[in-house]
Amino acid sequence: MSEHNRIHNFIHNLDASAILTIIGIILLFSTAIIVTLIAPRYVDPSWTEPTNPYQVQMYEISDPNLYISVAPNSERQFLYHLKQNFTLLSFEETDHMRIIASPELEKYITKVGDKLKLTSRLLMLRLPEDSAAETRAAALRIELQQKWATENTEAIQQGELKPSYAIFELYVPEGTEAFAIAPSDGVLENWAEQNFTILEEETPHAYHKDPGVIYVKNPREYRIGFFKFGNKEEWRYDPKGKRIASLEELKNHPVTFHSRQELISMGEQIFAIEGCWYCHTDQTRTLVQDVVLNGSDSYPAPPSSANEYIYQKITFPGTRRIGPDLSRVGVKRPSRDWHKGHFWSPKTASQGSIMPMFRHFFDDDPRGTSSIVPGLPNYKFEAIFQYMMTKGTRITPPTQAWWLGKDPIKTKELIETKFAKKQL
Ligand code: HEC
Repeated sequence: MSEHNRIHNFIHNLDASAILTIIGIILLFSTAIIVTLIAPRYVDPSWTEPTNPYQVQMYEISDPNLYISVAPNSERQFLYHLKQNFTLLSFEETDHMRIIASPELEKYITKVGDKLKLTSRLLMLRLPEDSAAETRAAALRIELQQKWATENTEAIQQGELKPSYAIFELYVPEGTEAFAIAPSDGVLENWAEQNFTILEEETPHAYHKDPGVIYVKNPREYRIGFFKFGNKEEWRYDPKGKRIASLEELKNHPVTFHSRQELISMGEQIFAIEGCWYCHTDQTRTLVQDVVLNGSDSYPAPPSSANEYIYQKITFPGTRRIGPDLSRVGVKRPSRDWHKGHFWSPKTASQGSIMPMFRHFFDDDPRGTSSIVPGLPNYKFEAIFQYMMTKGTRITPPTQAWWLGKDPIKTKELIETKFAKKQL
């Protein structure tokens, strides 16, 4: 082989290895991109997508429709914003509550023992208004009471009074939207599973097709009137008062309503400003002690997953636990009253607590007269409370606590084993 040929070969070989190196770098780089940026979406959607339809419903469909009054000096009021062809409604009779309706509307009533009927048509309940409806309700009440009397002769002999039966009228409100009052602590909405019937399905919403769906039960229209008590003047719920026709009107009214979603993000801000994160973490780690501490025998506490935070602007995973972790607090401590007492005076709610008092979360501070009776919670309380109530409910929907996901089931076994051991 000549000298010239050897050199040529050397250069040729070098060229090939350089090309191989470049190809190698490109391959490594693109693999890195695929593994870190693209694959997660396909390998484990729980990193980038909502955990379950419930979470979507809660944040994108159901909750923007829940409005809470945060006016100072006013008892909390909760309203549902109902829309024609959008909000699902049910009208369910109970043993002591009956519904009357015109023949056209009869089909929307779920009688006791019937399969649940849902509709996306905008309808509401009210106390019978015109004289025809009043007569009909009175006749029905007498009929029901007579029936009860013949079935309960013994009870009558023992002096029991006939039940008084609440009778409501189903009617079509004006316009395409309306506001329904909800009890301030209980929630009026429910969750239905696979076997429900939807009436009026001409314009079905995508989420109606999900295996479960949230609906509002027995909505009653929110009307408002002006009241005077001594030198105090206030707007209040008044079934015979003025009807609120639009969202704009509701939000600009002195009773100041905010959507739950607005309050949740205010709560996020307050959590940051007040430095709650200094003492509390917001993550259930994958460690047994976290999963067990945050859960109980009646609900699971799977480790936190990335998608639980996708609706948050600021996240507070935290590093130190001077107080307990809060990532499941919505399920662990759902009581508004408990939180009221706790923020007012952590020591009385939780013995020996070193958590500071947060009395600026209340108006009408009665300090000086009594430090035990809490003041009226203000918007700060409502915001932080609503924010905390999102913690955990994303993975354990209230009415479907045993969600058929992989984590809750695993955790349940884990917790049960622990409890079983304890009992031995
Ligand atoms: C100085 C540290 C500290 C700060 C700041 C603090 N906490 Fe606490 N927190 C604690 C301690 C300690 C406990 C446990 C005793 C108790 O229940 O009060 C606790 C308990 C709680 C609980 C009950 C949790 C459970 O699982 O029982 C909640 C809810 C809570 N804090 C919310 C908050 C919020 C919201 C803030 C901010 C507005 C806050 N905390 C600020 C120390 C703190």
